[in-house]
Amino acid sequence: MDDELPLVDVPVPHDERVAALVVAFREKFRLNPSGIAAAPGRVNLIGEHVDYNDGLVLPFAINRSVMFAWAKSGDHIVNWWSVNHADPPSLIDIEEFAEGSSAHTRGKWFDYPMGVMWAGARGPDVESDGMYTAFSGDVPQGAGLSSSAAIEVATAVAFRDAFELGIKDRDLALLCQRAENEYVGVQCGIMDQFASALSKAGHALLIDCRTLAYKHVPLRLAENGLAIVIANSAVQRELVMSAYNERRRECEEAVSRLRDLLGRPSLHSLRDVRADEIATLEINADDVVLRRARHVVGEIDRVAEAVDALENDDFKRLGTLMAASHASLRDDYEVSSIQLDLLVELASSQEYVLGARLTGAGFGGCTVNLVRAERVEDFARDVIAPYRERTRLPAVMYVSEPCDGLRTWRL
Ligand code: GLA
Repeated sequence: MDDELPLVDVPVPHDERVAALVVAFREKFRLNPSGIAAAPGRVNLIGEHVDYNDGLVLPFAINRSVMFAWAKSGDHIVNWWSVNHADPPSLIDIEEFAEGSSAHTRGKWFDYPMGVMWAGARGPDVESDGMYTAFSGDVPQGAGLSSSAAIEVATAVAFRDAFELGIKDRDLALLCQRAENEYVGVQCGIMDQFASALSKAGHALLIDCRTLAYKHVPLRLAENGLAIVIANSAVQRELVMSAYNERRRECEEAVSRLRDLLGRPSLHSLRDVRADEIATLEINADDVVLRRARHVVGEIDRVAEAVDALENDDFKRLGTLMAASHASLRDDYEVSSIQLDLLVELASSQEYVLGARLTGAGFGGCTVNLVRAERVEDFARDVIAPYRERTRLPAVMYVSEPCDGLRTWRL
């Protein structure tokens, strides 16, 4: 490990990134971009593995994003190019995205934007809807901060602008989820794309994943002398997709077992199970499926309580809920890892940390920590440094206030 690597990773200011992207676009394609779209990654404060169970989630957009500069090419070729990759632009015929065509992934980063076009973000004219594109991103990849949702949403916004598609933000998030589910082949829920599209600065985003109703909940961090620190374990989430799909299956099985156990034939999702009903069941430690259900039901309640805590600026309570969420993800849902547990344990033993838990799908990636603002530097010394020493992994931390969701400019 590089011992010189800073403990805190600070993003390049937004304006500098925009300027650099415009220059790169001009150099690569010898023309000016017509517009730029940007979509952020997200961190989830609480509400993990419940979006695909019709539950409630509470993420917010972070200060890192994918930017997408574009210009129409007037022909039928899309030039996918990323300043983060050494490859030259990949030229793909627009025919590939025609309605009804099947997914044709390449195993490359541009599978995500291609999926978005395929899912419906394209103009009406197959002969002349080509594009020059340049992407640049600073959302760490494979870290559970939704870099894929960011690239999807940035793509969808850029195409919406270029072809005046008139899609609402909410539908745009759904289109991006469809791209990921059906084109890329990852069975994610709606949280990440929704957070990237619809977040609002200074607020967490409460999403009811059953109805897709949402509410911006003020997150008065600075006013309360607090900050959110994201700690990256530097473990890439390798097993995540197979385990993720397995959890989804287990939740479906839980619904069908609970239908019988609770004598409720119309039971449709874990959202409809109450905590007191789960509590009446004697759940053995080896009853994996019911333990999964217990996590989901408890976690949905914790989100509702967290919203109440935020509305009352009760951050101590929020911290307690975060700790309970982590314990449940570790013990009942089993999506934590030794490294994530270590990060949470180191953080929780600092008196200036109010709450710590894994965030995102788990198995690696990041933790989210509620920290007294004046002690953020100490977090680097007390949590990140000893974690590095014990694991020899190049962990880093990020500090992010809640930011706006998608943004777009015409040049
Ligand atoms: C990933 C998925 C989300 C959500 C989280 C777990 O980030 O993309 O839809 O299920 O895991 O909460």
